[in-house]
Amino acid sequence: MSPDRKVRFLDYLKQNANKKISRIVIRDKLQLTPYEIESLIQSLKNYGISVSESETHIWLDSYPDIFTFPDLVLHTEAIGKKILPFYEVASTNDIALRLALQGEEQGTIVIAERQRKGRGKSGAYWYSPSDGGLWMSVIFRPETYVINVEKFTLMSALAVAQAVKELFDITAEIRWPNDVLLNGKKFCGILSEGKLTSTRLEFIIVGIGLNVNIEAEEFPRAIQQKSTSLKLELTDEISRVEVFSNLVFNLDRNYKLMQEDPTRLLELWRSYSRILGKRILVRMGLSEVRGLAIDYSPNGFLILRLDSGIEETIMSGSIVKIFE
Ligand code: BTN
Repeated sequence: MSPDRKVRFLDYLKQNANKKISRIVIRDKLQLTPYEIESLIQSLKNYGISVSESETHIWLDSYPDIFTFPDLVLHTEAIGKKILPFYEVASTNDIALRLALQGEEQGTIVIAERQRKGRGKSGAYWYSPSDGGLWMSVIFRPETYVINVEKFTLMSALAVAQAVKELFDITAEIRWPNDVLLNGKKFCGILSEGKLTSTRLEFIIVGIGLNVNIEAEEFPRAIQQKSTSLKLELTDEISRVEVFSNLVFNLDRNYKLMQEDPTRLLELWRSYSRILGKRILVRMGLSEVRGLAIDYSPNGFLILRLDSGIEETIMSGSIVKIFE
């Protein structure tokens, strides 16, 4: 049975959680045979999701933990062939790093319902409540040099922007290198961490934190004004499974493009950029520079024309201000 059917079945039960739904209605709405309904119920039960049934009705006793759903098979080439769901972890990046060190293959995704110690850039805390978002880390084992590490952050940010465009027809913007914004507020951050062997990358972990169903007042006070979630922007509860599946599909496609047509990938980044053509203030460690963001280099570095007229390539930093 196709995974789409299973996801649709579970989604339908979830939408009607605690209500008894007639088997006939399910059969008609989801176009399933009685035999298929039986096997779907069995598959949810096997995974510990509490489904009750009578001869005529079916119902969910509680709202299921969707990332524990076992049969989410994605039709991708390299990314997401293996998905390791956890209920609670300190940080999915830590688990993925440990697994990668033990030899875990490329494409494996670690995903958790919630993180106790979600990590952001520069050691910042990343708010990761249960049911609220996608907290996931992807293992890449590229045949490439350290110089290309930033590309992984950018192609992942691009995948996020593509996913929300395809699913909800909204245009997100990428604030180099690792933030994805909606209406000027951040709803997704990316943390890439790699292991190097001299100049080569042995593996790279891309951690993606995407706020899906978080309410404005839930965010820690310090970030409330500058954070948002898909639910806040779309004024509707969003299916995390749907966002996850589409995101992984785009990660897979971008990874392929990175190898086969990097120029096209660069063009796509440019089209979602929040900063190109704008004067910005960038912080790099303790120093700050101000200038016009004119382009990205092929390895994903930012090219800034300083106020002095000199062009500087910035390998990593954070954008402190965008002068509109
Ligand atoms: C940032 O914008 O500062 C980056 C945030 C990255 C958060 C994600 S959530 C999944 C993964 N695990 C972590 O501990 N961090 C990343």
